[in-house]
Amino acid sequence: MTAPLISVKDLTLRFKTDEGLVTAVNTVSFDIASGEVLGLVGESGSGKSVTAKSLMMLNADNSVYDEGSKIILNIDDREHDVLSLKRPAEQMIIRGGAISMIFQEPMASFAPAITIGDQMVEQLMIHSTMTRAEAREISIEMLTRVGIPEPAQRFGQYAFEFSGGMRQRAMVAMALSTKPRLLIADEPTTALDVTIQAQVIELMKDLVKEFHMSILFITHDLGVIAQTADRVAVMYLGNIVETGTVRQVINSPAHPYTRGLLNSLPKLDDLDSPLTPVPGDIPSPLDRPSGCIFHTRCVESGDIAEKCRTEIPVDSIDNASHQVACHLARQGDQA
Ligand SMILES: Nc1ncnc2c1ncn2[C@@H]1O[C@H](COP(=O)(O)OP(=O)(O)O)[C@@H](O)[C@H]1O
Ligand code: SF4
Ligand SMILES: [Mg+2]
Repeated sequence: MTAPLISVKDLTLRFKTDEGLVTAVNTVSFDIASGEVLGLVGESGSGKSVTAKSLMMLNADNSVYDEGSKIILNIDDREHDVLSLKRPAEQMIIRGGAISMIFQEPMASFAPAITIGDQMVEQLMIHSTMTRAEAREISIEMLTRVGIPEPAQRFGQYAFEFSGGMRQRAMVAMALSTKPRLLIADEPTTALDVTIQAQVIELMKDLVKEFHMSILFITHDLGVIAQTADRVAVMYLGNIVETGTVRQVINSPAHPYTRGLLNSLPKLDDLDSPLTPVPGDIPSPLDRPSGCIFHTRCVESGDIAEKCRTEIPVDSIDNASHQVACHLARQGDQA
């Protein structure tokens, strides 16, 4: 079997704060195969962005990784232990080389006082041996590919001269121009209107197919995941509670939290039905619940509530691809 492009194993990440150590990611494991789109979904604050930033070592200076945490990147038959890459020269393998990241707010990706073109050229020249003229040619070609009209003219403009949708496209162009093996897209369409959102998703899917790259697609919206991903990981308060193929997770959600997220989506066949959000508030990461991390909001624990409050559920595996951290799923296994 070929090794996955990236393998995250028991990733635990805490932040030092004035109130104490905050656990933002807790024993998270997942793989992304070459050419695969993995969707990472969960409410705001569940730890999606900090998990993604770990893959590029981009977390803030107050972050601390637990000793057992491992992120292995496999490129050209070589294993790179990402969390042990300490020197900037080593980190170049990942930042803008093997992995690129696009963000929800494209303004954050562009320096305001440098033209879009110059930024694209600089990035290409850092990560390759190409000349300025070659980098310019590739940048304009990428702007064309993402559907920016009059790309040669746009090349010389600043981010503020682009509309929101154009900026998002330019960011995709810049992220893909270095031909990364993994594209991390952190809520890339959240700030866009629905039509442009659909266009950006289509564009990313086309480019991924063409370049055979993998994507980690982050969103709080399971509806967007259904359109984009091959597999899904559902995150709650720093833990992955369910992983499976899109079909498994959307058609047969096995974790009560996943079912809650699905119930909170508008129903296409009954747009007038009221939306039911997952009840209750997300607990503070400073005060993480004992036992099952979701027990304070779970409406399904019923007569095993005491077990849920005290015992941490172990991943149950229906089959190799569908994993669920819930005592109910385990009971189902044994039945
Ligand atoms: N530098 C930091 N210092 C302290 N806490 C942080 C820091 N960065 C992120 N966090 C905390 O980590 C948790 C996860 O954040 P994040 O990954 O941004 O969530 P999501 O992307 O799922 O909305 C949040 O509770 C957030 O406040
Ligand atoms: S382990 Fe218990 S509290 Fe946790 S999701 Fe399952 S039923 Fe709900
Ligand atoms: Mg986020």
